[in-house]
Amino acid sequence: MKRVFLETYGCQMNVADSELMAGVLERAGLSLVDRPEDADAVLLNTCAIREHAEQRVLGRLGEFARLKARRPELVVGVTGCMAQHLRSRLLDHARVLDLVVGPDGYRDLPALLARAAREPVAEVRPDRDETYGDLEPRREPGVRAWVTVQRGCDRFCTYCVVPFTRGRERSRPLADLLREVRHAVEAGFREVVLLGQTVNSWHDDDHDFAGLLRAADAVEGLLRTRFTSPHPGDMSDRLIAALAECAKVCPHVHLPLQSASDPVLERMSRGYTLAQYHEVAAKLRAAIPGVALSTDIIVGFPGETADDFARTVAYLREARFDSAFLFKYSARPDTRAWRWPETVPEEEKGRRLAQLIELQHAISGELNDRWIGREVEVLVEGPARRDPGQLYGRTPQFKAVVFPNDGTPAGRLRRLRVAGATPVTLFGEAAEKNSAGAPLVHIG
Ligand code: SAH
Ligand code: SF4
Ligand code: F3S
Repeated sequence: MKRVFLETYGCQMNVADSELMAGVLERAGLSLVDRPEDADAVLLNTCAIREHAEQRVLGRLGEFARLKARRPELVVGVTGCMAQHLRSRLLDHARVLDLVVGPDGYRDLPALLARAAREPVAEVRPDRDETYGDLEPRREPGVRAWVTVQRGCDRFCTYCVVPFTRGRERSRPLADLLREVRHAVEAGFREVVLLGQTVNSWHDDDHDFAGLLRAADAVEGLLRTRFTSPHPGDMSDRLIAALAECAKVCPHVHLPLQSASDPVLERMSRGYTLAQYHEVAAKLRAAIPGVALSTDIIVGFPGETADDFARTVAYLREARFDSAFLFKYSARPDTRAWRWPETVPEEEKGRRLAQLIELQHAISGELNDRWIGREVEVLVEGPARRDPGQLYGRTPQFKAVVFPNDGTPAGRLRRLRVAGATPVTLFGEAAEKNSAGAPLVHIG
């Protein structure tokens, strides 16, 4: 067993976990390869948040089954949330599988892989003490480093599988996190994204999330700090003050709402009313001038009436989020809502989703148009995906900006004037001030 192909699905926490696994594998002498055809083992690091996410993985496993038919010695494994969610049921269902490892089993991955070459292996015991605090990830090169500060979730929103796949909430110690941030900066990363399912409930003895942000702000060489996802219920005044005062913390908050109807929020067990959510959003806007807000919404939750949905439409219009991730409710086994009859037919969910997408698209477009003519500071990430002749970066508000390739290296800050916009992208041109592409040393 020498070469491993690792493919990642799901949220940023899974991306960070894949980097953790990559570190564990490489320290054990294994190497990662870019193509499954070149691998002795293929691992899918999976997501279970919606049924669709699991179906994609099952489809991919079908492809690996064909590869394995030609090369029976190939080890096929599933890690992550779907592994934990389906546990040994996965081994029964998908006969192609040799290995199933839940999110708390990555430390022993090399040994598990070796065993799986001889017999089917499932390691899905939850370990409420495992935070991988001491393990150095092998990060994908880039300007942005993901740092998991908290694992698991204790909130048990009634639709959500995460508390069952990732177990109880655990915070990683402050000292480990600061060491990881410093290492990332030494390795050339310029931005860190602090990750947790309710990231703002992170704590270590007397230190709270506000303290963590302030400590990260003091790390020399770091340009920007982001975090995701905060829970509205944990957005204290202390934290809002820290967001406003920390120079490196970007003016962008992703604040999942889920629904703007109080009865729906109540049944979701979200722990806030619309009025309470709105108060948090208003405080953020008052404390952080120009802050960008984004959100998550679920349509078609059991019992969501036309009137409940109308409230969400009205609030989306009022709140004017910069962007929103919009989802159709997907019933997940193990959750409380799984037992509740679905009351919104699939076509109606589709209609509601389409209506929100159209509305949000228009709002994002209007908000992006307002940037035209203004100057922005972009952290350059590299060539634009669709057109390598152009460069690509993000503003502090997390707006993607595409601009002519003037040779600015990735990791530099570049001041640009916004010349055009779509609902998802800004188009930049050189601003006179630093037309030579001189790096700026601070961010405003
Ligand atoms: N911890 C974050 C959410 C993580 S999951 C928070 O509480 O805000 C990301 C998003 O997926 C959620 O915000 C929710 O909008 C969506 N989601 C979660 N479970 C879902 C389900 N069963 N069906 C549809 N969308 C779901
Ligand atoms: Fe899921 Fe709710 Fe936890 Fe977010 S806070 S991960 S939606 S249970
Ligand atoms: Fe999916 Fe697990 Fe993330 S269920 S969204 S990969 S925490």
